[in-house]
Amino acid sequence: MKKRILTGITTTGTPHIGNYIGAIRPAIEMAQKNDESFFFLADYHSIIKNQDANEIKESVEQIALAWLSCGLDTSQTYFYRQSDVPEILELSWILNCVTAKGLMNRAHAYKSATSLNENDPDKGITMGLFSYPVLMAADILMFNSTHVPVGSDQIQHLEMTRDIAARFNHLYRPLLTIPEPIIEDKNKVVPGLDGRKMSKSYGNVIPLLCNEKQLKKSIMKIVTNSLEPGEPKDTNGCTVFDLFKNFASEEEIIDFQKAYNEGISWGEAKEVLFNIVNTEIEPIRSKYEDLSKDKNFINEVLEDGSKKARILAKDKIAQIREVIGITKIS
Ligand code: TRP
Repeated sequence: MKKRILTGITTTGTPHIGNYIGAIRPAIEMAQKNDESFFFLADYHSIIKNQDANEIKESVEQIALAWLSCGLDTSQTYFYRQSDVPEILELSWILNCVTAKGLMNRAHAYKSATSLNENDPDKGITMGLFSYPVLMAADILMFNSTHVPVGSDQIQHLEMTRDIAARFNHLYRPLLTIPEPIIEDKNKVVPGLDGRKMSKSYGNVIPLLCNEKQLKKSIMKIVTNSLEPGEPKDTNGCTVFDLFKNFASEEEIIDFQKAYNEGISWGEAKEVLFNIVNTEIEPIRSKYEDLSKDKNFINEVLEDGSKKARILAKDKIAQIREVIGITKIS
């Protein structure tokens, strides 16, 4: 049986090299295989933490542009914006009604938010944050997804999705497919400028959609130790080397390792890194520059995507409505 793989991208911020290596590039490769793939912009998830309308809009545009510029073939995939498929919200409510509150109480994201509060544990916590996993379950279950690639922070959400689906199937009829996680390799964490995981919240990102000069400037800011040129350098735990590996062939990696042993200077090592990243990013950048001139194009792509997705969603929600009794009086 064909796998049906689904991934959501929360629309906050602009894509960086870590997103590219960790999510966009592997997803596009995966989409070229024989499976069916669903990629969507989770904009209703993004309003949980961000109430700045312009930032939300900007981020949706930048993320959509990034995926398209990186070569996503939208004729082979379902690529849509969550808010363009209102059936997802409808399903989300229905799932809310079969989800145990106790299950949500155990969500890591919610628990860590409450643990920061001193007197009232629920201070500053919205229902959106609390029921976030239910909306995520709706995203997944709406389309009978069989496989969901997840980072370690999302494994629990997928388990909750499985619980919620099983509960629905038990109470009504087995309409919902129980999805399997595809768990991301922990060794593949992409380091940022300071060596910690590349993340907008750490302020250590290398942007993906910037010009050559900005890319170079950013790479030159990578933190290294103070070994002098000529002194042999260790590739283990070295941010420059770890980033390089994500863009290089086996041979190029061996050559770079040699250069480290021979005492390449940090300036030169960063130059090598810049060149290899830039070579891969160049065609993406030029496509991005072209596509960003044509706003209609993005809107059309997203419209087409949601049309395709809604055919499936409407059919599914009709079946679900039927089994729960929200249907025509007969
Ligand atoms: N919660 C995911 C994240 O923050 C994004 C997301 C929303 C998602 N809905 C999804 C991921 C459905 C996979 C499947 O990364």
